[in-house]
Amino acid sequence: MLLLGVNIDHVATLRQARYRENPGERRAEPDPVAAALLCEDAGCHGITAHLREDRRHIVDADVRRLRERIRTRLNFEMANTPEIVAFALDLKPAFVCLVPERREEVTTEGGLDVVGGARSLADSCARFRDAGIAVSLFVAPDAAQIEASREVGAQYIELHTGRYAEVFGEPALRDAELDRLAAAARQAHSLGLRVNAGHGLTVDNVPALSAVPHLEELNIGHTLVSRAVFVGLRAAVREMLEAMASYPEAAREGPGPALHSR
Ligand code: PXP
Repeated sequence: MLLLGVNIDHVATLRQARYRENPGERRAEPDPVAAALLCEDAGCHGITAHLREDRRHIVDADVRRLRERIRTRLNFEMANTPEIVAFALDLKPAFVCLVPERREEVTTEGGLDVVGGARSLADSCARFRDAGIAVSLFVAPDAAQIEASREVGAQYIELHTGRYAEVFGEPALRDAELDRLAAAARQAHSLGLRVNAGHGLTVDNVPALSAVPHLEELNIGHTLVSRAVFVGLRAAVREMLEAMASYPEAAREGPGPALHSR
């Protein structure tokens, strides 16, 4: 079964539009933690939140409350900086997903530059591994980046599907991108890495990901919160789970998903 991790950041983005100075105030809405609990009720398998260095949406207190309150598991997205690494080690989420925030950390295709940042990433991966936190690296479907992900000691990669989402309406480009994602997933699997995917995914473009083997989890945010404006968050999550249900079980061919229930 392909799992759904809901990225809850955009709920906090809406709150910050009005309550940037006082997100902890009682009347500050919408509450990303309440939204996360509702997504869990609707059947999602995990919650993802990205504490950015500039705290532009999710703030520290949100992440701590998510860690306390959710019943699935928390995937903590983060930049590989000393401040955020220390926060994550203290938080102890089930997973961390290291993502680029600064231009120099980004490959030409928008994923994390694992090759360029190998030394520092290896150090962080070791610290997380020692703390019992599984590490994922958000990478483009690029052979060198995937090879480096294995070398620095990550257990997972999250394949960046942004380019796939961008070209989805153009069949030749879409098929080429699906081929790249499939090749990347096969390579990662053969190296012993587990494979997630995310960015720009929607109910329209998710079904065709059946062509990409070994996927365990999709992390999806923007479209769910957008769709919630019209049908509500619970229905938006259910629609997405339905769109994901056609993912072939045999395509994963991997170890079972690590459900770090708390
Ligand atoms: N995965 C990662 C690593 C992300 O940073 C994001 C947010 O950009 C997502 C998944 C979710 O992307 P989207 O909001 O486009 O669904």
